[in-house]
Amino acid sequence: MSERIVQVALADRAYEIRVAAGLLSRAGEHIAPLLHRRFAVIVTDENVAARHLDALKRALALQNIGCEAVILPPGESQKSYAGFERLSEALLALKVERRDHLIALGGGVIGDLAGFVASVLRRGMDFIQIPTSLLAQVDSSVGGKTAINSRQGKNLIGAFHQPRLVLADVDLLNTLSPRELRAGYAEVVKYGLICDAPFFDWLEANGAALLAGDRSLRIEAVARSCAHKARIVAADEREQGERALLNLGHTFGHALEAETGYSQRLLHGEGVAVGMALAFRLSAQLGLCDAALAPRVERHLAANGMPARLADVDGAAGFAAGKLLDHMRQDKKVRDGRLVFILAEAIGRAVQRDDVAPATVEALLAEQLTQAA
Ligand code: GLY
Repeated sequence: MSERIVQVALADRAYEIRVAAGLLSRAGEHIAPLLHRRFAVIVTDENVAARHLDALKRALALQNIGCEAVILPPGESQKSYAGFERLSEALLALKVERRDHLIALGGGVIGDLAGFVASVLRRGMDFIQIPTSLLAQVDSSVGGKTAINSRQGKNLIGAFHQPRLVLADVDLLNTLSPRELRAGYAEVVKYGLICDAPFFDWLEANGAALLAGDRSLRIEAVARSCAHKARIVAADEREQGERALLNLGHTFGHALEAETGYSQRLLHGEGVAVGMALAFRLSAQLGLCDAALAPRVERHLAANGMPARLADVDGAAGFAAGKLLDHMRQDKKVRDGRLVFILAEAIGRAVQRDDVAPATVEALLAEQLTQAA
């Protein structure tokens, strides 16, 4: 099965996303040309380490690359001031040099934390992403957003710091739980909804087989998603315009994640799934798109095991529309005090709007919550 290469065209910070099956066992060949000395530090978590760390160490050893590994406890709590301090001190204790590379082996938490530490440690080090979740392969490992969380909200302390290389090995998806895989799949669907209607049609036809394990479909979906993300990031690295479209479903999704305490009750991708369906409902209500589109989006999400409606979220019967709206006001996307929504004119045509009346959003949420009562 062939390797797909996606270029992220960012001048002197350009890099490649390589997508294939079995990449981890060949990681040393891919990484060696980037290194100044034959040494790297792997940052990972206990769960990922148990599954994939030995394979990565073997792959590095085959190219005579020495390595150390920092293995963190799993979970979002690592993306904190304390987690940042722990990882930074562990790396400094290993005497990493500014020209060394960190290798982030893991999902979004590891990638975001290791990337943020790399952005400031010794005033900035290079890092390589080896994403192990579908969400990280199609979204968080690409594009250089790195961050930790604040008590005020998620990802509020961060930096844009691009990796030097992303290795997306679709075989690593085999060890994910079905729930985690499906949550990542929501971010794949997102690309179809934002900018690629034929891709959404393709997902309607192939999504179930892809989720069931078909490797070539997975390579196609990851590469196509990354190609969209790479193009958007190259055009608007710091989210002054088009990049914001990647936040489809995220204003609603983040509010739901906040309301459920960023817990296992609702994974990030699940919040995005519900959020995307709500964005289509809001778009239809504002007369931006055909009313038949929201049910079509919901059908695809639900058919593939994702929550699609507010009522599908654990504990939705206890949510209040006003409180969800309050969570939205803390969003990074708030501009001049106005909420920013990514809405849709059609499948494959997302638009950014900052003129939606909060009362309209609150009414939509209240109406959707009646189904959970
Ligand atoms: N996850 C959205 C972005 O990278 O811009």
